[in-house]
Amino acid sequence: MPDIIDHALAFARETFAGDASGHDYWHTFRVWKLARRLAEAEGADILICELAALLHDVDDAKLSPETYAGKLRARSFLESESVDEAAIARILHIIGQVSYKGSDSETPDSLEGMCVQDADRLDAIGAIGIARTFAFGGSRGRTLWDPEEKPRTEINARNYQTGGGCTVNHFYEKLLLLRDLMNTKTAREIAEARHRYMVTYLDEFFAEWQGVR
Ligand code: ADP
Ligand code: NI
Repeated sequence: MPDIIDHALAFARETFAGDASGHDYWHTFRVWKLARRLAEAEGADILICELAALLHDVDDAKLSPETYAGKLRARSFLESESVDEAAIARILHIIGQVSYKGSDSETPDSLEGMCVQDADRLDAIGAIGIARTFAFGGSRGRTLWDPEEKPRTEINARNYQTGGGCTVNHFYEKLLLLRDLMNTKTAREIAEARHRYMVTYLDEFFAEWQGVR
């Protein structure tokens, strides 16, 4: 493994120590693994994908609002590793396109960006996605589900992080939409099984809620 990957893993581990909102180090670790798998399958630049994946959340708007706009933590890490400015610009550009913002989400303009966005979104669905979503809801003091609260239908950059009610609604506001938003064929295939798993999970959740199973 190149030294820079080792260093980026250590940097991510330091940055996310103690996070309990589903954005911990192991989220970054999984996104890195998936991004590399997608890059290999899709023929993208593997090192650019790996570095963008490893750094994609270090300047997250929620976790580090003061460095978000300039992607300052990612930049200073890459500069400290003597990465050339052209590669830094490519990586920061990808990171800026990854995040989910409902109807304001961006479609990456590079194959590498598509792989990293798909990897981040794959980690939001399936068994891991379910666990992360309830962890996030718990970290914000949200109830599991409130049958009287309907999911919102219009999600955009402005209202995605604000408002929002019970955690199960997040499945309808984001998670169940992700399968059809994958950029690459490889990610679409992986998303299919993860999506089905969530549908089965919700079916069981509601059946137990009604007391019929
Ligand atoms: P992205 O990874 O595209 O930047 P976020 O950081 O907003 O997206 O969300 C990452 C994960 O955090 C979501 O997939 C979900 O598991 C959890 N999460 C975010 N917002 C909510 C919410 N309102 N309710 C429950 N979980 C959420
Ligand atoms: Ni992420």
